[in-house]
Amino acid sequence: MATIKLENLTKKFNKVIAVNNVSLTIKDGEFIILLGPSGCGKTTTLLTIAGIYRPTGGAIYMNDTIMNDIPPRYRKIGMVFQNYALYPHMTVFENIAFPLRTVKDISKTDIKTKVEELADKMRIASLLERKPSELSGGQQQRVAIARALAKEPQILLFDEPLSNLDAKLRIIMRGELKRLQETLGITTVYVTHDQSEAMALADRVAVFNHGILQQIGSPEDIYYSPRNIFVAGFLGSPSMNFLSGTRLIKNEGTAYIEKEGKKLVEVPSKNLDKFENAPSEDLILGFRPEDCKIVPNDEIGIPGKIYLLEHLGREVVVNIEAFGNIFKVIADPESRFEKEQRVVLKLKPDRVHLFDSKTEAAVF
Ligand SMILES: Nc1ncnc2c1ncn2[C@@H]1O[C@H](COP(=O)(O)OP(=O)(O)OP(=O)(O)O)[C@@H](O)[C@H]1O
Ligand SMILES: [Mg+2]
Repeated sequence: MATIKLENLTKKFNKVIAVNNVSLTIKDGEFIILLGPSGCGKTTTLLTIAGIYRPTGGAIYMNDTIMNDIPPRYRKIGMVFQNYALYPHMTVFENIAFPLRTVKDISKTDIKTKVEELADKMRIASLLERKPSELSGGQQQRVAIARALAKEPQILLFDEPLSNLDAKLRIIMRGELKRLQETLGITTVYVTHDQSEAMALADRVAVFNHGILQQIGSPEDIYYSPRNIFVAGFLGSPSMNFLSGTRLIKNEGTAYIEKEGKKLVEVPSKNLDKFENAPSEDLILGFRPEDCKIVPNDEIGIPGKIYLLEHLGREVVVNIEAFGNIFKVIADPESRFEKEQRVVLKLKPDRVHLFDSKTEAAVF
């Protein structure tokens, strides 16, 4: 089994800094997701761990051994790419057996046993004689995983392995992958730009932007306690609502966030300490669509007007226009709202986030 440590890892391509001073430690058997938008350096980080790229700066350790100069074939890594990269002229059997053919002293019988065992595990035993072109996307995916497992890797690397599948199959395969990883207990680094995939699969998620690691933590950590506006906005669908130009006020011992003289939400007393090192003006209020209620009227809350209703079956997304923004709120589909209706958004005080607009860091 294997641990991975990235220490101030940097990878430059000419002037582009694809990965910028990233440090993180991956525990033995852990499932880590690298999450972020296109071009944020996920694939570059993965290929550097694989040894396909050499770091420009910093170091990669596996089990406390520095790996910077160790070629990929000595790293005990299995890799699955977005396009599966199966050999088109080979059968499924040959594709899975291919990595084993490079191993010395392995008999034909042993190869056959191993391929059949993997095919069973991936539920593709009936497909061994087919060519990749005769398989569905999901089946090709399983073959690619079986091939990655053939040499009993200590580390599995996945680069957007589900993005070529349709939405339904993606959710099925994602469950299977999670189950497989838990069963095998192989340290896994998995790249995706899909936040729901990251939340569903990961033990911990590492959120990247512009080559910089923004935050690493459990899915709950990064969802409920985002460290900055980028992380707050990247996770969740519909994403977090933001309202800028707010400030902290105190009124007869109670603290509120207000804008233009209107009290929007009370600040729980436990959060007041957090203003010691943060400004109390020019703040950005953040709240998730599920963390508020729509009421006809209230002294405290965000006053607005219903702009649009999106009926999604299980829920309705109510779009509310307030302070020149459109906020999205998840409501019960049975609730009766009408366009243009005047309402007040009641935020759950302990679910509210606040950000410093200059640094974009979370106050809480
Ligand atoms: N071989 C390369 N040569 C030059 N620039 C590169 C190379 N590979 C990546 N880059 C640049 O490095 C940055 C990070 O690229 P990377 O492929 O790691 O992003 P990514 O997060 O995997 O994005 P995507 O979600 O689109 O796959 C980008 O600006 C990209 O253009
Ligand atoms: Mg990529």
